Parts: sequence; C-alpha cells; structure tokens
Amino acid sequence: MTTEALKVNGLSVRYPLRGGVLGRIQHFFTAVEDLSFSLAEGEVLAIVGESGCGKSTLAQALVGLAPWSAGKLTLFGEALNPASRKDLKQIRSQMQMVFQDPFSSLNPRQTISEILIYPLLARGFSRGESAIKIEKTLALVGLSTDVLSRFPHAFSGGQRQRIGIARSLVLSPKILICDEVTSALDVSVQAQVLQVLDEIRRQEGISLIFISHDMQVVRALADRVLVMYLGQVMEMGEVSRVLASPKHPYTEALIKSIPTLDRSAPPEILDGEWVSTAPSSTGCRFAPRCKKRIPACTEKPIDLVSVDFVLSRCLLNRPF
Ligand SMILES: Nc1ncnc2c1ncn2[C@@H]1O[C@H](COP(=O)(O)OP(=O)(O)OP(=O)(O)O)[C@@H](O)[C@H]1O
Ligand SMILES: [Mg+2]
Repeated sequence: MTTEALKVNGLSVRYPLRGGVLGRIQHFFTAVEDLSFSLAEGEVLAIVGESGCGKSTLAQALVGLAPWSAGKLTLFGEALNPASRKDLKQIRSQMQMVFQDPFSSLNPRQTISEILIYPLLARGFSRGESAIKIEKTLALVGLSTDVLSRFPHAFSGGQRQRIGIARSLVLSPKILICDEVTSALDVSVQAQVLQVLDEIRRQEGISLIFISHDMQVVRALADRVLVMYLGQVMEMGEVSRVLASPKHPYTEALIKSIPTLDRSAPPEILDGEWVSTAPSSTGCRFAPRCKKRIPACTEKPIDLVSVDFVLSRCLLNRPF
C-alpha cells in the first residue's frame, strides 16, 4: 500500500504589492490559487508551466518561505501549520528544498564542511554524528570527502549543485523539492545531477517534487505531472498519460513547443504571454490564448474533472 507523504488542500498565496512614497499595500497579487495535490511516498511529482505561473511560489510556500493566505498542509497524516514556528521546524525536518542557482545558493565564505555541518549542529546532532551523516550523504551524491575543506568557488556548476543537494539531504528529509535544479547547468552535467536524484529516490525512498521547464526531463524522471497556469492547476495525472494524450489545450501547447531536431516538424510556439492576457475573473484563465476556445470557456468557473484518469480543467474532452 502506498503511504501519502504530503497533501495540500486549497493552497492560495497572495503577495502584497506596495506603492506610493510611503510604500503602503495598494493591492494583492494572487500567485497561487486554491491549489490541491498529494504526493505518495517515493513518488516523483513534476510541476511544469511557463515562467511566472507560480511554481517557485508553490515550492516556497511548502517550506514556509511564502505566505499561505489559505489552505491546509498534511505531512504523513499530520496536519501542520506553516505559519507556526513549531510546526515549521517539523515541516523542514521532513521536507527540504534545493534551489535553482548552484552559484548563489552556497555561501562563498564557508567551506563545504561548514555548509554541511551547520544545519546538523543546529538540529542538535553532535560533531561525531554529523561527520557520519555527511560522509554518507556525500557518497549518495557521488562526491568524496576531499571536497570538505574547499570553498564553493573551487567547484564546477554540476559539483556545486550536488553539494546543494547534499546540504538538503544531510537532514534526512522524506521529501525533496527541486526547483529547476538543472536549468543553470549544461546538458551533460544536467544528466549527472538527474541521475543522482533518481538514485536518491531509489535508494532512500525519498519523494521528489520536481519543478522543471523541460518536458523531456519530466518524462524521464517523474511519475505524475501537475501542469500550472497563472497559479492554478490546469491538468494533473500520470506522466505517460498526460504526455501521450493531454486533456488541456495548454498542456498540448507546452508539449508542442518542445524544440526538436526534425526540420519537417518544427515546434509550435505558444502565442501571447500570460502577462498580456490578464485572467478573466470568470472562466478558464488560458482562454484568451487558447486556439480551441468556445464561448462557454469564459462564462463560468471551470472545475478540475477526471477524464481518463487525468484531472483536467477544460470543457473540451469531457465525457458529458
Ligand atoms: N515576493 C513577491 N512579491 C510579489 N510578487 C511575487 C513575489 N514572488 C513572486 N511574485 C510573482 O508571483 C508570480 C509567480 O512567480 P514564481 O516565481 O512563483 O513563478 P515561476 O513559475 O517559478 O517562474 P519561473 O519559471 O520563471 O521560475 C510572478 O508573477 C511573480 O512576479
Ligand atoms: Mg521559479
């Protein structure tokens, strides 16, 4: 039986937008709206969507780095409140994040040894216990203990990202959130880092939330995919089903825009930008850019409905 590692119900994140000389809050921007999903133990859930759709905001909210204006979080069956310091400590002991930029996410003034030991000492581990954990974690990410006395600038991007992953893994989290961890790396190094993540998942049974722009990587690594547009889930389901037969035109457009080497089948570029197509208050947020739009798409809110075992927020392809 699969155990549910994480459950998020109705998460909304609103950022205050300040203006004027006094910097008063003038309005709010909703970066994530009423978003729900679950993650099973050992599962890899990919989150995809265009730049600005709220992927990082969602990840940050999970580890208490972005404010929850609504929603509930359950970790291994226990309801926790990310706004409470005590609960946040528990959340971060089980869920850790790896950041996109391996160059700015490591403190240049600390040796790798210091970078890896501080989180352990802060959690109350002795130096001896910490050394054992660090050695085991470095082996997991394919690095030797020789790296410990060096500073981050002495490493390549791929090595730094492995150190970043090691820093998140030393605390033995059950869930690792990877926010575009390979996008700053060249293709061969990307493959090494992805292999490390895949091995960690197999060996340690850790669940991964994998944020990416790259559908090929998603296809290779993930079990399920959540497609986001303007803060909302547009489609969610098993990767093989969603990529083979997308139920939402937005997912279809994302898949069709993947660059290929085949000149006879060039990628189809998705027209417009979400910024210039402000969401209508009613109906589908993607409707202004959707080629398959029908009048009903903008008339009333559209729910996520299960079609062929895939959840989709689209009036087309519905069984009724
Ligand atoms: N601190 C903040 N204050 C106000 N708005 C913010 C803040 N952080 C993010 N946003 C806005 O929230 C939206 C979602 O941002 P987010 O960084 O989550 O997108 P993303 O999907 O991760 O994009 P990318 O793929 O480029 O990383 C964007 O419109 C962004 O401008
Ligand atoms: Mg981001």
